[in-house]
Amino acid sequence: MREIVSPAKAIHGVVTLPGDKSISHRYGMLASIAEGVSTITNYSTGADCQSTLSCMAALGARIERDSENRIVIHGGQLREAPGQLDAGNSGSTIRMLSGILAAQPFTSTIGGDESLSRRPMARVIKPLTQMGAVIEARDGTHPPLTIHGRELHGIDYALPMPSAQVKSCVLLAGLFAQGDTIVREPVRTRDHTEIALREMGADISTEKRVITLRSSAHLTGRELYVPGDLSSACFFLVAALLMNDSDLVIHGVGLNPTRSALLDFLVSIGASIKVLDVRQTAGELIGDLRVRASRLHRGAIDGPLTAALIDEIPALAVLGAATGGLTVRDASELRIKETDRIATLEANFKRMGVAIETTADGFHVAGGQKFHAAELDSAGDHRIAMAFAVAALAADGPCSIEGAESAGVSFPEFFDTLRQIAV
Ligand code: S3P
Repeated sequence: MREIVSPAKAIHGVVTLPGDKSISHRYGMLASIAEGVSTITNYSTGADCQSTLSCMAALGARIERDSENRIVIHGGQLREAPGQLDAGNSGSTIRMLSGILAAQPFTSTIGGDESLSRRPMARVIKPLTQMGAVIEARDGTHPPLTIHGRELHGIDYALPMPSAQVKSCVLLAGLFAQGDTIVREPVRTRDHTEIALREMGADISTEKRVITLRSSAHLTGRELYVPGDLSSACFFLVAALLMNDSDLVIHGVGLNPTRSALLDFLVSIGASIKVLDVRQTAGELIGDLRVRASRLHRGAIDGPLTAALIDEIPALAVLGAATGGLTVRDASELRIKETDRIATLEANFKRMGVAIETTADGFHVAGGQKFHAAELDSAGDHRIAMAFAVAALAADGPCSIEGAESAGVSFPEFFDTLRQIAV
Protein backbone atom coordinates (compact mmCIF):
# COMPACT_ATOMS: atom_id res chain seq x y z
CA MET A 1 0.00 0.00 0.00
CA ARG A 2 1.20 3.47 -0.93
CA GLU A 3 0.60 6.44 1.41
CA ILE A 4 0.99 10.03 0.32
CA VAL A 5 2.34 12.34 3.03
CA SER A 6 2.21 16.10 2.44
CA PRO A 7 4.48 18.67 4.03
CA ALA A 8 3.32 20.12 7.37
CA LYS A 9 4.09 23.33 9.25
CA ALA A 10 3.74 22.09 12.82
CA ILE A 11 2.69 19.23 15.07
CA HIS A 12 -0.04 20.06 17.57
CA GLY A 13 -2.31 18.16 19.88
CA VAL A 14 -2.65 15.56 22.58
CA VAL A 15 -2.28 11.85 21.80
CA THR A 16 -2.36 8.54 23.64
CA LEU A 17 -0.45 5.67 22.09
CA PRO A 18 -1.12 1.94 21.93
CA GLY A 19 0.72 -0.31 24.35
CA ASP A 20 4.46 -0.92 24.23
CA LYS A 21 5.44 -3.70 21.85
CA SER A 22 8.21 -5.17 24.02
CA ILE A 23 6.08 -5.24 27.17
CA SER A 24 3.04 -6.64 25.35
CA HIS A 25 5.02 -9.63 24.02
CA ARG A 26 6.26 -10.42 27.52
CA TYR A 27 2.85 -10.07 29.17
CA GLY A 28 1.25 -12.22 26.47
CA MET A 29 3.81 -15.01 26.94
CA LEU A 30 4.09 -14.88 30.73
CA ALA A 31 0.32 -14.71 31.27
CA SER A 32 -0.01 -17.83 29.09
CA ILE A 33 2.35 -19.89 31.26
CA ALA A 34 1.26 -18.40 34.62
CA GLU A 35 -1.29 -20.13 36.83
CA GLY A 36 -4.70 -18.49 36.73
CA VAL A 37 -6.13 -15.53 34.88
CA SER A 38 -4.39 -12.35 33.72
CA THR A 39 -6.11 -9.28 32.35
CA ILE A 40 -4.02 -7.06 30.09
CA THR A 41 -5.15 -3.49 29.39
CA ASN A 42 -3.74 -1.47 26.45
CA TYR A 43 -2.07 -4.51 24.83
CA SER A 44 -0.22 -3.46 21.64
CA THR A 45 -2.44 -3.39 18.55
CA GLY A 46 0.59 -4.14 16.33
CA ALA A 47 0.70 -7.27 14.16
CA ASP A 48 3.85 -8.51 15.95
CA CYS A 49 2.11 -8.70 19.31
CA GLN A 50 -0.91 -10.34 17.72
CA SER A 51 1.51 -13.00 16.38
CA THR A 52 2.56 -13.68 19.96
CA LEU A 53 -1.06 -14.11 21.05
CA SER A 54 -1.86 -16.45 18.13
CA CYS A 55 1.19 -18.58 18.96
CA MET A 56 0.19 -18.77 22.64
CA ALA A 57 -3.40 -19.65 21.68
CA ALA A 58 -2.12 -22.40 19.35
CA LEU A 59 -0.13 -23.70 22.33
CA GLY A 60 -3.30 -24.02 24.39
CA ALA A 61 -3.65 -20.72 26.28
CA ARG A 62 -7.28 -19.53 26.36
CA ILE A 63 -7.21 -15.91 25.15
CA GLU A 64 -10.28 -13.68 24.97
CA ARG A 65 -11.20 -10.02 24.78
CA ASP A 66 -13.56 -8.66 27.41
CA SER A 67 -16.21 -5.97 26.95
CA GLU A 68 -13.64 -3.26 27.73
CA ASN A 69 -11.30 -4.55 25.01
CA ARG A 70 -8.84 -5.96 27.53
CA ILE A 71 -7.04 -9.20 26.74
CA VAL A 72 -7.95 -11.95 29.19
CA ILE A 73 -5.55 -14.91 29.30
CA HIS A 74 -6.22 -18.16 31.14
CA GLY A 75 -2.73 -19.54 31.55
CA GLY A 76 -1.23 -22.84 32.69
CA GLN A 77 0.28 -25.89 31.08
CA LEU A 78 0.98 -25.49 27.35
CA ARG A 79 0.28 -28.29 24.88
CA GLU A 80 1.63 -29.24 21.48
CA ALA A 81 0.38 -26.90 18.72
CA PRO A 82 -1.58 -28.54 15.91
CA GLY A 83 0.79 -27.14 13.25
CA GLN A 84 3.73 -24.80 12.66
CA LEU A 85 3.70 -21.69 14.86
CA ASP A 86 3.72 -18.44 12.88
CA ALA A 87 5.73 -15.56 14.35
CA GLY A 88 4.99 -13.38 11.31
CA ASN A 89 7.51 -10.53 11.14
CA SER A 90 8.33 -10.71 14.83
CA GLY A 91 11.88 -11.40 16.01
CA SER A 92 10.77 -10.93 19.62
CA THR A 93 8.12 -13.65 19.27
CA ILE A 94 10.38 -16.29 17.75
CA ARG A 95 13.40 -15.57 19.95
CA MET A 96 11.64 -15.25 23.29
CA LEU A 97 9.09 -18.00 22.70
CA SER A 98 11.93 -20.38 21.74
CA GLY A 99 13.01 -20.24 25.38
CA ILE A 100 9.61 -21.44 26.55
CA LEU A 101 9.29 -24.08 23.82
CA ALA A 102 12.73 -25.51 24.61
CA ALA A 103 11.39 -26.65 28.00
CA GLN A 104 8.08 -28.17 26.95
CA PRO A 105 7.52 -31.94 26.82
CA PHE A 106 6.79 -31.79 23.06
CA THR A 107 8.27 -30.67 19.75
CA SER A 108 7.33 -27.36 18.11
CA THR A 109 8.15 -25.76 14.79
CA ILE A 110 8.14 -21.98 14.59
CA GLY A 111 8.72 -19.80 11.53
CA GLY A 112 7.65 -16.50 10.05
CA ASP A 113 7.60 -14.26 7.01
CA GLU A 114 10.35 -13.72 4.46
CA SER A 115 12.12 -11.04 6.52
CA LEU A 116 12.06 -13.13 9.69
CA SER A 117 13.32 -16.15 7.76
CA ARG A 118 16.53 -14.23 7.00
CA ARG A 119 17.23 -13.23 10.62
CA PRO A 120 19.88 -15.02 12.72
CA MET A 121 18.68 -17.45 15.38
CA ALA A 122 22.01 -19.06 16.32
CA ARG A 123 22.10 -16.52 19.14
CA VAL A 124 19.19 -18.32 20.84
CA ILE A 125 19.98 -21.83 19.61
CA LYS A 126 23.40 -21.76 21.29
CA PRO A 127 22.35 -21.06 24.91
CA LEU A 128 19.21 -23.20 24.66
CA THR A 129 21.30 -26.13 23.40
CA GLN A 130 23.66 -25.60 26.35
CA MET A 131 20.62 -25.85 28.61
CA GLY A 132 19.74 -29.24 27.10
CA ALA A 133 17.29 -28.47 24.26
CA VAL A 134 17.64 -29.94 20.78
CA ILE A 135 16.96 -27.42 17.99
CA GLU A 136 17.12 -27.69 14.21
CA ALA A 137 17.25 -24.64 11.96
CA ARG A 138 17.63 -23.97 8.26
CA ASP A 139 21.41 -23.54 7.62
CA GLY A 140 21.87 -23.97 11.37
CA THR A 141 20.58 -20.46 12.10
CA HIS A 142 17.54 -19.39 10.07
CA PRO A 143 13.84 -19.99 10.76
CA PRO A 144 11.86 -22.15 10.76
CA LEU A 145 13.18 -23.66 13.97
CA THR A 146 12.18 -27.12 15.10
CA ILE A 147 12.50 -27.18 18.86
CA HIS A 148 12.52 -30.52 20.66
CA GLY A 149 11.66 -29.63 24.24
CA ARG A 150 13.68 -31.31 26.98
CA GLU A 151 14.20 -31.12 30.72
CA LEU A 152 16.56 -28.16 30.94
CA HIS A 153 19.24 -27.21 33.41
CA GLY A 154 20.20 -23.66 34.34
CA ILE A 155 23.36 -22.14 32.86
CA ASP A 156 25.63 -19.19 33.50
CA TYR A 157 25.58 -17.41 30.15
CA ALA A 158 27.56 -14.37 29.03
CA LEU A 159 25.66 -12.78 26.13
CA PRO A 160 28.02 -12.25 23.18
CA MET A 161 25.95 -9.28 21.97
CA PRO A 162 23.60 -6.80 23.65
CA SER A 163 20.17 -8.34 23.07
CA ALA A 164 17.13 -8.18 25.32
CA GLN A 165 15.49 -10.82 23.15
CA VAL A 166 18.27 -13.33 23.75
CA LYS A 167 18.49 -12.45 27.45
CA SER A 168 14.74 -12.98 27.73
CA CYS A 169 14.88 -16.24 25.82
CA VAL A 170 17.42 -17.67 28.29
CA LEU A 171 15.48 -16.40 31.31
CA LEU A 172 12.20 -17.84 30.03
CA ALA A 173 13.89 -21.22 29.51
CA GLY A 174 15.40 -20.82 32.98
CA LEU A 175 11.90 -20.58 34.47
CA PHE A 176 11.45 -24.28 33.72
CA ALA A 177 15.06 -25.39 34.34
CA GLN A 178 16.67 -27.30 37.18
CA GLY A 179 19.05 -25.02 39.06
CA ASP A 180 19.64 -21.28 38.81
CA THR A 181 20.01 -19.43 35.52
CA ILE A 182 22.47 -16.56 35.27
CA VAL A 183 22.70 -14.14 32.33
CA ARG A 184 25.55 -11.65 32.02
CA GLU A 185 25.01 -8.67 29.71
CA PRO A 186 27.82 -6.82 27.92
CA VAL A 187 25.74 -3.63 28.18
CA ARG A 188 22.44 -3.04 29.88
CA THR A 189 19.41 -3.73 27.68
CA ARG A 190 15.68 -3.30 28.27
CA ASP A 191 14.67 -5.15 31.44
CA HIS A 192 10.92 -5.65 30.92
CA THR A 193 11.26 -9.43 31.24
CA GLU A 194 13.00 -9.20 34.61
CA ILE A 195 10.38 -6.73 35.91
CA ALA A 196 7.43 -8.78 34.65
CA LEU A 197 8.88 -12.02 36.04
CA ARG A 198 9.33 -10.41 39.46
CA GLU A 199 5.82 -8.94 39.37
CA MET A 200 4.35 -12.35 38.58
CA GLY A 201 6.17 -14.11 41.40
CA ALA A 202 9.59 -15.28 40.13
CA ASP A 203 12.67 -15.03 42.32
CA ILE A 204 14.92 -12.89 40.13
CA SER A 205 17.55 -10.31 40.95
CA THR A 206 19.89 -8.04 39.00
CA GLU A 207 23.24 -6.83 40.21
CA LYS A 208 25.07 -4.55 37.80
CA ARG A 209 24.63 -6.44 34.53
CA VAL A 210 24.23 -9.93 36.01
CA ILE A 211 20.73 -11.35 36.25
CA THR A 212 20.06 -14.37 38.45
CA LEU A 213 16.82 -16.34 38.19
CA ARG A 214 16.40 -18.87 40.95
CA SER A 215 14.88 -22.21 40.02
CA SER A 216 11.36 -23.47 40.69
CA ALA A 217 9.71 -20.18 39.88
CA HIS A 218 5.97 -20.23 40.05
CA LEU A 219 4.20 -17.51 38.12
CA THR A 220 0.74 -16.27 39.02
CA GLY A 221 -1.63 -14.44 36.68
CA ARG A 222 -2.59 -10.84 37.54
CA GLU A 223 -3.96 -7.57 36.22
CA LEU A 224 -1.53 -5.77 33.96
CA TYR A 225 -1.50 -2.44 32.15
CA VAL A 226 0.82 -1.87 29.17
CA PRO A 227 2.29 1.67 29.06
CA GLY A 228 2.23 3.52 25.72
CA ASP A 229 5.13 2.67 23.41
CA LEU A 230 8.04 5.13 23.71
CA SER A 231 9.57 3.77 20.49
CA SER A 232 6.32 4.69 18.68
CA ALA A 233 6.21 8.04 20.48
CA CYS A 234 9.69 8.68 19.08
CA PHE A 235 8.31 9.33 15.58
CA PHE A 236 6.03 12.07 16.90
CA LEU A 237 8.72 13.52 19.16
CA VAL A 238 10.97 13.80 16.11
CA ALA A 239 8.18 15.32 13.99
CA ALA A 240 7.45 17.92 16.66
CA LEU A 241 11.13 18.77 17.10
CA LEU A 242 11.54 19.20 13.35
CA MET A 243 8.80 21.74 12.82
CA ASN A 244 8.65 25.30 14.12
CA ASP A 245 5.70 26.12 16.38
CA SER A 246 5.07 22.49 17.35
CA ASP A 247 3.61 21.69 20.75
CA LEU A 248 2.58 18.09 21.41
CA VAL A 249 1.52 16.19 24.53
CA ILE A 250 1.79 12.38 24.58
CA HIS A 251 -0.07 10.75 27.45
CA GLY A 252 0.81 7.55 29.31
CA VAL A 253 4.16 6.65 27.74
CA GLY A 254 6.44 3.96 29.19
CA LEU A 255 9.49 5.54 30.81
CA ASN A 256 11.44 2.48 31.94
CA PRO A 257 15.03 3.75 32.47
CA THR A 258 16.38 1.08 30.08
CA ARG A 259 14.26 2.70 27.33
CA SER A 260 14.21 6.38 28.28
CA ALA A 261 17.78 7.03 27.11
CA LEU A 262 15.91 8.36 24.07
CA LEU A 263 14.65 11.32 26.09
CA ASP A 264 18.07 11.97 27.65
CA PHE A 265 19.65 11.89 24.20
CA LEU A 266 17.10 14.31 22.74
CA VAL A 267 17.46 16.69 25.67
CA SER A 268 21.27 16.47 25.35
CA ILE A 269 21.06 17.78 21.78
CA GLY A 270 18.80 20.66 22.80
CA ALA A 271 15.24 19.27 22.72
CA SER A 272 12.58 20.83 24.89
CA ILE A 273 10.85 17.81 26.42
CA LYS A 274 9.04 17.89 29.74
CA VAL A 275 8.15 14.71 31.60
CA LEU A 276 4.97 15.14 33.63
CA ASP A 277 3.07 13.06 36.17
CA VAL A 278 5.33 9.99 36.47
CA ARG A 279 3.65 6.96 38.03
CA GLN A 280 4.19 3.17 38.18
CA THR A 281 2.31 0.18 36.92
CA ALA A 282 3.47 -3.40 37.60
CA GLY A 283 7.01 -2.14 38.19
CA GLU A 284 7.11 -0.08 34.96
CA LEU A 285 7.34 3.72 34.98
CA ILE A 286 4.81 5.65 32.95
CA GLY A 287 4.35 9.37 32.38
CA ASP A 288 3.21 12.14 30.04
CA LEU A 289 5.52 13.99 27.68
CA ARG A 290 5.29 17.54 26.37
CA VAL A 291 7.56 18.34 23.44
CA ARG A 292 8.04 21.66 21.70
CA ALA A 293 9.94 22.69 18.58
CA SER A 294 13.58 23.24 19.50
CA ARG A 295 16.91 24.28 18.01
CA LEU A 296 19.03 21.15 17.98
CA HIS A 297 22.74 20.55 17.68
CA ARG A 298 24.88 17.66 16.47
CA GLY A 299 24.37 14.22 18.02
CA ALA A 300 26.58 11.14 18.32
CA ILE A 301 25.41 7.65 19.25
CA ASP A 302 27.90 4.90 20.04
CA GLY A 303 28.83 2.24 22.61
CA PRO A 304 26.11 1.37 25.15
CA LEU A 305 23.95 4.26 23.90
CA THR A 306 23.63 2.50 20.52
CA ALA A 307 22.08 -0.55 22.19
CA ALA A 308 19.73 1.66 24.21
CA LEU A 309 18.52 3.54 21.11
CA ILE A 310 18.68 0.75 18.53
CA ASP A 311 14.99 0.93 17.53
CA GLU A 312 14.93 4.73 17.43
CA ILE A 313 17.94 5.23 15.14
CA PRO A 314 15.92 5.46 11.87
CA ALA A 315 13.82 8.32 13.27
CA LEU A 316 16.87 9.97 14.85
CA ALA A 317 18.69 9.83 11.50
CA VAL A 318 15.85 11.82 9.93
CA LEU A 319 16.00 14.30 12.82
CA GLY A 320 19.78 14.65 12.52
CA ALA A 321 19.74 15.25 8.76
CA ALA A 322 17.21 18.08 9.13
CA THR A 323 18.79 19.68 12.21
CA GLY A 324 22.31 19.38 13.63
CA GLY A 325 23.61 16.14 12.06
CA LEU A 326 24.09 12.65 13.52
CA THR A 327 26.91 10.10 13.70
CA VAL A 328 26.08 6.51 14.65
CA ARG A 329 28.69 3.85 15.46
CA ASP A 330 28.73 0.32 16.94
CA ALA A 331 25.39 -0.41 15.27
CA SER A 332 26.09 -3.53 13.19
CA GLU A 333 22.85 -4.96 14.73
CA LEU A 334 20.98 -2.46 12.52
CA ARG A 335 22.00 -4.54 9.51
CA ILE A 336 20.06 -7.57 10.79
CA LYS A 337 16.79 -5.98 11.87
CA GLU A 338 13.56 -6.34 9.84
CA THR A 339 15.67 -4.91 7.01
CA ASP A 340 19.30 -3.86 6.81
CA ARG A 341 18.35 -0.49 8.29
CA ILE A 342 21.63 1.19 7.35
CA ALA A 343 20.95 0.27 3.71
CA THR A 344 17.24 1.17 3.77
CA LEU A 345 17.99 4.52 5.43
CA GLU A 346 20.61 5.23 2.79
CA ALA A 347 18.31 4.28 -0.10
CA ASN A 348 15.51 6.57 1.09
CA PHE A 349 17.77 9.48 1.98
CA LYS A 350 19.24 9.28 -1.53
CA ARG A 351 15.73 9.42 -3.02
CA MET A 352 15.16 12.66 -1.06
CA GLY A 353 18.50 14.12 -2.12
CA VAL A 354 19.91 13.82 1.42
CA ALA A 355 23.60 12.88 1.72
CA ILE A 356 24.58 10.03 4.07
CA GLU A 357 27.92 8.25 4.51
CA THR A 358 27.54 4.67 5.67
CA THR A 359 29.99 2.25 7.29
CA ALA A 360 29.74 -1.43 8.23
CA ASP A 361 28.36 -0.52 11.64
CA GLY A 362 26.92 2.96 11.32
CA PHE A 363 26.57 6.15 9.34
CA HIS A 364 27.00 9.88 9.36
CA VAL A 365 24.45 12.44 8.16
CA ALA A 366 25.34 16.10 8.05
CA GLY A 367 22.77 18.50 9.49
CA GLY A 368 20.74 21.24 7.86
CA GLN A 369 19.93 19.22 4.73
CA LYS A 370 16.90 19.91 2.53
CA PHE A 371 14.46 17.04 2.05
CA HIS A 372 13.11 16.86 -1.52
CA ALA A 373 9.79 15.29 -2.46
CA ALA A 374 10.39 11.68 -3.54
CA GLU A 375 8.96 8.22 -4.00
CA LEU A 376 10.04 6.42 -0.83
CA ASP A 377 9.96 2.72 0.03
CA SER A 378 9.67 1.07 3.45
CA ALA A 379 11.10 -2.22 2.06
CA GLY A 380 8.52 -3.81 4.38
CA ASP A 381 10.12 -2.39 7.54
CA HIS A 382 7.75 -0.65 9.97
CA ARG A 383 10.32 1.70 11.46
CA ILE A 384 11.58 2.77 8.02
CA ALA A 385 7.97 3.46 6.89
CA MET A 386 7.32 5.66 9.93
CA ALA A 387 10.71 7.42 9.95
CA PHE A 388 10.28 8.47 6.32
CA ALA A 389 6.65 9.51 6.84
CA VAL A 390 8.10 11.99 9.34
CA ALA A 391 10.81 12.99 6.85
CA ALA A 392 8.04 13.58 4.28
CA LEU A 393 6.40 16.14 6.61
CA ALA A 394 9.56 18.23 6.27
CA ALA A 395 9.97 17.76 2.49
CA ASP A 396 9.42 20.42 -0.18
CA GLY A 397 6.42 18.59 -1.64
CA PRO A 398 4.24 15.49 -1.16
CA CYS A 399 6.09 12.15 -0.89
CA SER A 400 4.75 8.67 -1.50
CA ILE A 401 5.70 5.78 0.77
CA GLU A 402 5.49 2.34 -0.79
CA GLY A 403 4.82 -0.48 1.70
CA ALA A 404 3.37 1.98 4.22
CA GLU A 405 1.16 -0.78 5.64
CA SER A 406 4.24 -2.26 7.34
CA ALA A 407 3.77 0.42 10.05
CA GLY A 408 1.06 -1.96 11.28
CA VAL A 409 3.72 -4.35 12.56
CA SER A 410 4.06 -2.13 15.63
CA PHE A 411 1.66 0.81 15.18
CA PRO A 412 -1.40 0.32 12.93
CA GLU A 413 -2.84 3.72 13.94
CA PHE A 414 0.35 5.60 12.95
CA PHE A 415 -0.80 7.34 9.73
CA ASP A 416 -4.22 8.28 11.19
CA THR A 417 -2.58 9.75 14.28
CA LEU A 418 -0.01 11.60 12.16
CA ARG A 419 -2.81 13.19 10.11
CA GLN A 420 -4.58 14.31 13.29
CA ILE A 421 -1.57 16.16 14.69
CA ALA A 422 0.20 17.46 11.56
CA VAL A 423 -1.05 20.94 10.64
C1 S3P B 1 13.45 -6.07 21.75
C2 S3P B 1 14.82 -6.03 21.77
C3 S3P B 1 15.61 -5.42 20.69
C4 S3P B 1 14.75 -4.48 19.86
C5 S3P B 1 13.47 -5.12 19.44
C6 S3P B 1 12.65 -5.47 20.67
C7 S3P B 1 12.75 -6.70 22.87
O1 S3P B 1 16.11 -6.45 19.84
O2 S3P B 1 15.47 -4.06 18.72
O3 S3P B 1 12.69 -4.24 18.65
O4 S3P B 1 11.53 -6.52 23.00
O5 S3P B 1 13.42 -7.39 23.65
P1 S3P B 1 17.47 -7.26 20.16
O6 S3P B 1 17.23 -8.10 21.35
O7 S3P B 1 17.72 -8.08 18.91
O8 S3P B 1 18.52 -6.22 20.39
